[in-house]
Amino acid sequence: MRFYLIGAGVIGRTHAEAIRKLSLEEGVELKVADPNPQARSSFAELFPEAVVFSDAQEMLSEKAEDDDIVIVGTPPVTHCPLSKLALESGRHVLCEKPLVMNREEAQELLETANKHGRLIGCCSDRFLGLPKMEEVKKIVHSHSLGDIYKVTFVHRSQRSRPGIEYQPESRWFLDRSKCAGGIVMDWGPYDIAVINELLAPVSVKVAAAWTSQPKTQVDPTDIVYDVEGHVGAMLNCRLKDSREVRVHYERASCTHGEPYNRVEIEGTLGAVRWSPYFGSDGVVTTYDEKGEPKSSERLAANESGFKFLDHPVLFFVRKVRGEESPAIVNDQAVFNFSCLQAIYDCDLSGQPQVVELGQPPTVHK
Ligand SMILES: NC(=O)c1ccc[n+]([C@@H]2O[C@H](COP(=O)([O-])OP(=O)(O)OC[C@H]3O[C@@H](n4cnc5c(N)ncnc54)[C@H](O)[C@@H]3O)[C@@H](O)[C@H]2O)c1
Repeated sequence: MRFYLIGAGVIGRTHAEAIRKLSLEEGVELKVADPNPQARSSFAELFPEAVVFSDAQEMLSEKAEDDDIVIVGTPPVTHCPLSKLALESGRHVLCEKPLVMNREEAQELLETANKHGRLIGCCSDRFLGLPKMEEVKKIVHSHSLGDIYKVTFVHRSQRSRPGIEYQPESRWFLDRSKCAGGIVMDWGPYDIAVINELLAPVSVKVAAAWTSQPKTQVDPTDIVYDVEGHVGAMLNCRLKDSREVRVHYERASCTHGEPYNRVEIEGTLGAVRWSPYFGSDGVVTTYDEKGEPKSSERLAANESGFKFLDHPVLFFVRKVRGEESPAIVNDQAVFNFSCLQAIYDCDLSGQPQVVELGQPPTVHK
C-alpha cells in the first residue's frame, strides 16, 4: 500500500510511526513532501525508508493506484487546497483536524471526493476505539441507562494553549487566519467526534454558545494572537428516533477557573461517567438500587499494539479496504466539522444554528 504524507512536522512524524506499525501483507511505501528543508532532513533521519519531496504536487504526479492514501498533516489553512489536490490525483485523503477553515471549504472537499469516488477522512477519530470509549458505547447501546436526555462534556485546562504552553515553536496555532480557530478547532474536533459517535445524531442544533480569550502575563504581543481559549455551548442533538439529547459542552485551554474534566451521560434509568482521553480512571455507572443511587467503577483494559496516535491511519486503512472501522469520512466528516463551525456562528450571531447530517451546511444570521 502506498502512503503520501504532506507535511513532515510533528504530526507527520506521528503518522509515519503509525504507518511503520501496519503489518500489511503487501508491504508499505512511504513518500513525504514538505517545502521546509529542516523538516525534510529531520524526517529523513527518522524515516530513511521514505522518499522525500519538496513539493506535494510533484510527489502526487505519478499514476494513482486504487488504494493509495494521502495524509495531509500541515497547518489548517492548507488543508483544503492540499486535500483537493490529492483527491484530484485520484487518491483517498486522510486530513488532519480541523478538516478545513470554513463550511465552504468543507462542501468543496466533499464534492471533490464524491466526484472522484474517493474518501475524505478526518483525523478527529484519534480517540475513538479506546477501551474506555468502547466500554461506554456498550453501556449506551445496551439501553440500560433508559432514555438518554443529557450529556455533560466539560474539559478545562488552565494552561495548555498550542503555540504558547504546548508546541511553542508552532506559532500558527495562535493566528485564526492560519488555524481556523482556538480551542474549538483544536480539541473540539475530538470532542464532537466522541459525542457524535456515542449519540449518532442526525442533526445538531447549537442553541447557545460563547467564546472567550482569558489573558495571561505570557500572552504573545509580537505576533497575531486572536484565537479563543475557552468555549461553552448548549447543543441539542436530534437522534434517529427524533428524541433530543442536550449536550452541555465546555472546553478550555486557558482559564483562571479550576481545571475540571468530566464527561457524563444521564438517562432516565442510570448514568455513566468517564474521562474520554488520558485519565487512568475507569468507567463509572450509577443506577438506582432500592431508592438509593449505587455506583460501580469498571477499569477498562489498557491499549495494546496500536495506540491512540496510530488510530487515524489504522482506521482509515481499514475503511479504504472496506473493513469495519470507526473512521470519520465524507458526509460524517463534514457534519462533524459543521457542528464546530456552528458554535462560532451561534456565538457571533446570537442565533441558534442547525446542522443536518448529509445536508450542505447553512448559516442562520
Ligand atoms: N502537534 C500535535 O500534537 C498535533 C496533534 C494532532 C493534530 N495535529 C494537527 O496536525 C496539523 C499539523 O500540525 P503540526 O503540529 O504537525 O505542525 P508543524 O508546524 O509541526 O508542522 C507542519 C508542517 O507542514 C509543513 N507545510 C506547510 N505547508 C506545506 C505545504 N504546502 N506542503 C507540504 N508541507 C507543508 C511545514 O513546513 C511543517 O513542516 C494541524 O492541523 C494540527 O492541528 C497536531
